[in-house]
Formats: sequence, structure tokens, C-alpha cells
Amino acid sequence: MRILLTGAAGFLGRGIRESLAPLHDVICLDPVDTEPVREREEIVLASVTDREAIARVMAGVDTLVITHMLSRTTERGAYQESPSAAIDVNVKGTLLLMQEAVKNSVRRVILISSESVVRPFVAQGGVVPHDAEPTPAADLYILTKVFQEKVVEGFHNEYGIEVVVLRIGGVCRVDPATRRVYPKYEGAEWTRNEPGMVERGDVGLAVGASVQLEHVTYERMFVMGSSLARQHFDVQYTEKKLGWRPRFDFSWMDGRGPTRL
Ligand SMILES: NC(=O)c1ccc[n+]([C@@H]2O[C@H](COP(=O)([O-])OP(=O)(O)OC[C@H]3O[C@@H](n4cnc5c(N)ncnc54)[C@H](O)[C@@H]3O)[C@@H](O)[C@H]2O)c1
Repeated sequence: MRILLTGAAGFLGRGIRESLAPLHDVICLDPVDTEPVREREEIVLASVTDREAIARVMAGVDTLVITHMLSRTTERGAYQESPSAAIDVNVKGTLLLMQEAVKNSVRRVILISSESVVRPFVAQGGVVPHDAEPTPAADLYILTKVFQEKVVEGFHNEYGIEVVVLRIGGVCRVDPATRRVYPKYEGAEWTRNEPGMVERGDVGLAVGASVQLEHVTYERMFVMGSSLARQHFDVQYTEKKLGWRPRFDFSWMDGRGPTRL
């Protein structure tokens, strides 16, 4: 398959590439430079807001994987400072990608979304269904994720393009030898198992399974690795639908340390 991956130089993008690159031709699109991890990767330095560049790279693509976002150097930075950039990159960039995907007969789109789009359901207790509707939010980052889901759903409804929305939790990297957990943001370290945690390579495996999935129309599912996730989110659906199992469930961190949230 020929796959276009946006946000490929990012923290999660690098985890996704590890699982896609051995099997597919991957176009890694990001304005930030990145080294290829495999021979079959093509690096394209461009923005999702640049229609000409997107039109050029979209030709011949089978699957579009959307992971880009306006980056933050801290958990809250950038979105308060440049709200219009957040809309331009996350929302308008996604709209532009979908328009070019339809023009180029791209078959499938995989959107990396966030569990935050349904967070109010978690507060109500019980298990949140995998296809719960995105909720209103008072946070610009979350609102852009809600909009992204609505954009890809709109294009599915209008043009029949296949869509898989993966609602992921908080992403980290785990060293398999030491099982040390490396957070994305300095100072936001997890010291104990929490329901939303997921290792970035495990998200990559879910993306890989979504590329191969048969009979897709419009799918929404949760991707969380933590052994505690199923108490709050319907991750069983993901496991059944994708045949996906996380390699890291963080159970070795049970009962340790203060909670991050
Ligand atoms: N990190 C998490 O814990 C987490 C949790 C839930 C959802 N997500 C989602 O995962 C995705 C990736 O997040 P991340 O943590 O890897 O973020 P990141 O900031 O590390 O990566 C985002 C990438 O997008 C790129 N980007 C920024 N502007 C762009 C543009 N105009 N055109 C193309 N690319 C652009 C950045 O250069 C960066 O490489 C995002 O969609 C985010 O909403 C992340």
C-alpha cells in the first residue's frame, strides 16, 4: 500500500512509522525534518495547509493517516498563544487533506483522534461506548479534535470514503528492556498505571491493523494499552475488530506513585 502519514516527525508519528514502514510505502509529511527509518519511506517537508504540496503527494495514495497537530512544547502551550494557528493546522488542514483525498480517489482515511472528545462520558461513570458522539468542550485543543472527527465523518457521508477513527489515550514510549516509561512532555511523567495510557508503538500496531481491516465504512474505536482502560472505555471492541492487543499494559506500575491527573 502507498500511505500518506501527516505529522510523521512527531512523537506519535515516529511510533506509527515503525509499524508501517516494513510493510508499506510511506510518505512522511511534516514541515519538520526527520530521518527515514526504512528504505521505503519518502520524506516530504510540507504543511497540511499547502494545497499544492498536498495535491502533489496525494496522487497514487491508497490510505491517508492523519496524525498532525499544532505542536505544543508543554501540555498547554501554543493553543492559548496562537488559537488561529490551531484552527488552521488541525481543522482547516484536515479539511484540505480530505478534499484532496477525494479528488485522488484515496480509499481509506485513518484519523488519530483523542479520548478527550468523549471525556464528559467518563465522568458519568460506566464504560464509554466506542462510537460515542464527540461532546462539547471548553478547551481549544479538544475542540479541534472534535472538529477533525466531524470533518472526516462528513466526507464519509458525502463521498463514501472509508474512515477509521482511533481515539487514543496519553501516549508514551516504553523501553522494553527496562520497562521504563518515557513521557512526551518533560515534567508530565506517569509514575503509576492510569486508564488512558498507551505506548506509541502499540498505537502504530492499531494503525497497521486499521490499514488491513476489511469491510470498513465508518469506524470509531478506542486505543488504550492500560490494563485499567476497559473499566472506562470499550477497548474490547477494538480488540475484536482489529485483532489488536497492546504489548504494554502498564500493570507493572499498579499502585505505584502519585496520579498524574
Ligand atoms: N501525545 C498524546 O498523548 C496524544 C493523546 C491523544 C491524541 N493525540 C493525537 O496524536 C497526534 C500526534 O500527537 P503527538 O503527541 O505526536 O504530537 P507532536 O506535536 O509530537 O506531533 C505532531 C506533528 O505534527 C506536525 N505538524 C505541525 N504542524 C503541521 C502542519 N502544518 N503540517 C503537517 N504537519 C504538522 C509537527 O511538526 C509534529 O511533527 C495528534 O493528532 C494528537 O491530537 C496525542
